[in-house]
Amino acid sequence: MIILASDHAGYALKEEIKKFLNKENIIAIDVGCYSRELADDYPDYAKAANTKVLEDPRNVGIYICGTGVGMSIAANRNAKIRAALCLSTNVAELARAQNDANVLVLPGRSMKPKKAIKIVKVFLTTDFEGGRHARRLKKL
Ligand code: RB5
Repeated sequence: MIILASDHAGYALKEEIKKFLNKENIIAIDVGCYSRELADDYPDYAKAANTKVLEDPRNVGIYICGTGVGMSIAANRNAKIRAALCLSTNVAELARAQNDANVLVLPGRSMKPKKAIKIVKVFLTTDFEGGRHARRLKKL
């Protein structure tokens, strides 16, 4: 299951990603926010979404704030979360293959929906390679 989260600055892009996931029949839970009007706080949504992501190891989060930086910092406060801010499909692929990232973070204010959706597709379809990468993850 996909867990979606954003603050007001990520709301619009989250809605686009939600539409894409719906179209693909991919189940997504949106923990908020639910409007672009409120100046709300990304740590609140990262925390709520982290809890949901960790309910099942197959879950994946997609978190969005203005830059993606705040959501990344907030999400990674939880030791079991590996959140990766991905600005390209290449980084999204490596974040899954090598870092076993369980949360994709995107910048709502500077990324167009078309590019974001390409990144989401790669993130959701790339498997962790294990091996030497698993050894490194154990050291985190
Ligand atoms: C909200 O204005 C903005 O600070 C937030 O979305 C994010 O970019 C923080 O890193």
